[in-house]
Amino acid sequence: MTLLLAATAQQKIGIGVAILTVLGAFLYLLLHLKRRESPPVGAEVELAPNRRPYLSDDELETDKLEVAQKFALAMMVIIAVGLPAYWLKEPSRQAGATSGFENRAVRRGFELFQPTNSTEHGAHFGCANCHGPKGEGGGANYTLNDPTNKDAPPRVVKWQAPALNTALLRFAPDEVRNILVYGRANTPMPAWGVLGGGPMNDQQIDDLVEYIKSIQLSPKEVRAKNLTTYGLDGAKLFDAFCSRCHTKGWSYGESDVIGGGAFGPSLVGGDTTRQFPNREDHIDFVLNGTEYGKPYGVRGVGGNEGGGMPGFAGMLTRQQVEAIVDYERSL
Ligand code: HEC
Ligand code: HEC
Repeated sequence: MTLLLAATAQQKIGIGVAILTVLGAFLYLLLHLKRRESPPVGAEVELAPNRRPYLSDDELETDKLEVAQKFALAMMVIIAVGLPAYWLKEPSRQAGATSGFENRAVRRGFELFQPTNSTEHGAHFGCANCHGPKGEGGGANYTLNDPTNKDAPPRVVKWQAPALNTALLRFAPDEVRNILVYGRANTPMPAWGVLGGGPMNDQQIDDLVEYIKSIQLSPKEVRAKNLTTYGLDGAKLFDAFCSRCHTKGWSYGESDVIGGGAFGPSLVGGDTTRQFPNREDHIDFVLNGTEYGKPYGVRGVGGNEGGGMPGFAGMLTRQQVEAIVDYERSL
């Protein structure tokens, strides 16, 4: 009884069919054995089914035949209606299986994300140490060497780590996967995938992408919040959303030339107007970002294994992007 209560509709049907089958088999055996007992030795010849006279024509002319046919018809209807009805449930079963699969992936990704000193969770890689407990952004200490002066002593800076709860508003899932696999060279973001020399297998990277997907804020809310916070001030917007990659030193509070180039190329001295002579193309570009290997502008190619220039359509309004572009073209 508890079994029946706990079971899903499909399981109940299955249990019912199983019980019926067992009962039927018993019944068959019972009748069969009983009949076996009765005939005396030597009677097989007389009693062989093909030698026994069947019902006479008159007897068959009664409704006997029709009853048998109706019974067969009823069985056919049960099969014809029952099977499709059973399979009608199949899509929702499959959807349930898929979402169950995703939920488990999110759960595993969540655990990988936890701080390295977390005691409640199993294997974890400490994304939260730098990106915040819920991926809302944070920071990390980073040792900088001066590439132009080998003798200069290394110094430690505090490097801002971006929020990940908007990462998929800027990047496609495959681009986030690539960032995780290869990291960002020359920043505190390490390579995590085996291909990039990191410790995680493909499954773990996929689980993390699923987890990051699960914490995304809604684009509508993010755009509304960014509109109230930054308005249509191109310089402010550039500082908040672009400098991180396009201004050397911005991430650790030592901004060099604004837009002078860092992870992303230099945008000053007419570089952007050469790449985008047309303002409209420039706006489209900032809204959509780059794809790995795809050309853009006059002579640009999206690079960095994917995960290069993000698209901002999910985070900023079109008017804000226009304001940024006008500011950028004046740099
Ligand atoms: C030691 C600190 C640190 C750890 C640990 C770390 N990150 Fe990062 N991560 C960073 C920093 C800093 C950046 C930004 C680098 C830059 O300035 O371009 C970054 C960038 C990223 C980006 C790109 C976001 C963007 O908008 O540019 C993603 C995605 C990301 N990290 C995910 C992860 C995940 C998932 C983990 C855990 C497996 C992780 N990070 C662990 C410091 C860290
Ligand atoms: C996560 C880092 C990152 C952020 C944030 C970022 N960019 Fe970029 N940007 C890049 C990279 C990398 C490229 C080079 C193309 C590529 O590899 O995809 C690029 C290229 C560009 C180019 C083309 C320059 C050329 O000469 O080819 C423009 C224009 C540009 N970005 C504008 C912006 C603006 C405006 C913002 C802010 C709204 C912004 N970027 C934010 C990384 C970034």
